[in-house]
Amino acid sequence: MKTYLVTGCAGFIGSNFVHYMLEKYAQIRLVNLDKLTYAGNLENLKDVEGDPRHIFVQGDICDKALVSDLITRYDPDYVINFAAESHVDRSIRNPEIFVESNVLGTVNLLQCCKDAWYNAEAKTWKEGKKYLQVSTDEVYGALGPEGYFTETTPLSPHSPYSSSKASADLFVMAFHDTYGMPVNITRCSNNYGPYQFPEKLIPLLINNAKQHKNLPVYGDGMQVRDWLYVMDHCKAIDMVASDGKVGEVYNVGGHNERPNIFIVKTVIAQLHDRLQDEGITEELITHVADRLGHDRRYGIDPTKIKNDLGWYPETPFEKGIVLTIDWYLANPEWMAHVTSGDYQKYYEQMYKNKEAHTRKAAARPRRAGRGGA
Ligand code: NAD
Ligand code: DAU
Repeated sequence: MKTYLVTGCAGFIGSNFVHYMLEKYAQIRLVNLDKLTYAGNLENLKDVEGDPRHIFVQGDICDKALVSDLITRYDPDYVINFAAESHVDRSIRNPEIFVESNVLGTVNLLQCCKDAWYNAEAKTWKEGKKYLQVSTDEVYGALGPEGYFTETTPLSPHSPYSSSKASADLFVMAFHDTYGMPVNITRCSNNYGPYQFPEKLIPLLINNAKQHKNLPVYGDGMQVRDWLYVMDHCKAIDMVASDGKVGEVYNVGGHNERPNIFIVKTVIAQLHDRLQDEGITEELITHVADRLGHDRRYGIDPTKIKNDLGWYPETPFEKGIVLTIDWYLANPEWMAHVTSGDYQKYYEQMYKNKEAHTRKAAARPRRAGRGGA
């Protein structure tokens, strides 16, 4: 039986990963360390409550004593780090916490693993251990209309969020290169699916449209993202943990590139038809000031993970978006709970502020050669 220390698994992708792994493996132990920030939510794990294979621990990945204790107590085969501050817009307003959780938290996990797994005299590592960092395609920066990110594309992050993730990736590779630590990094494109916090585009659209509220589209809405159904990402992480070659990076993406405005119109059409609601129309679309430093296009080349591990995206977008909308329509109380309290304040500040940014963003020149608009 394998033991996994997984961090940040009360959040969107992590909670889907817990569901995926418990469904797939009868014999498994998942120790889930999560700080329960605004994005962490134990309701995401309600289905697995009482399952003895899942052990939840509330705490911070920056807490050395706690992480060391968990590694000593449970002796995990794998440590998989999902925990992060994950929203680009929040990073633009408050970068410090992104450095703390995403950079310092990652370094702390690496150090704790090294303390437990490395014999400095013999320069050997305990057999069968691995650290996996869940990273993002945003570390590569932005693409122009042509080309894709491969694993050898140079890191060129633009936002405080992607800079913190790139920095964490560099530390992970530094531990591999310096001490020979067994590591992998996965860099995935935009995920969508159940349990995603409605600060992110798709659940935000669903929540607003149901209430006939404006659907905020940044700038011209022609920014392109490569959308992947979250369970396909979970499957990739499982495969990389088990079979990924030590020291390698794997890009994960579905060749499903869509401009944001296409996503917005798809969600409107789906909700209009499914709810038979004449109030859900494209009239709700509201172009607002663009995100500062907004990356124009992401596109993943997933050839390496396909060829080396046999992974491929199983869920076509047309199916994934229906599954996703079904889930949100079936779980209105989940949405009501996560949007009560602080969410309203967040929404007001974030979107009011966007109006104030309009003139500044328009006047700001972009640096050449970084794939921006
Ligand atoms: P999320 O914001 O939904 O969840 C993050 C989780 O981490 C939350 O449960 C939160 O409580 C926890 N957390 C934050 N700081 C912590 C800390 N210091 N200690 C312990 N727990 C902490 O994020 P997500 O969308 O599920 O993303 C998970 C990971 O995947 C992140 O590392 C993100 O960078 C990466 N990623 C996300 C996407 C995407 O499209 N969402 C795509 C590629 C990669
Ligand atoms: O590419 C992977 C990344 O995808 C992950 O690393 C991040 O953690 C995750 O948040 C996501 O980042 P994005 O910035 O691409 O996701 P978001 O849902 O915030 O925005 C998707 C696109 O939609 C982006 O171009 C900005 C735009 N957008 C977003 C919001 C919230 C809007 O036009 N309006 C909005 O209100």
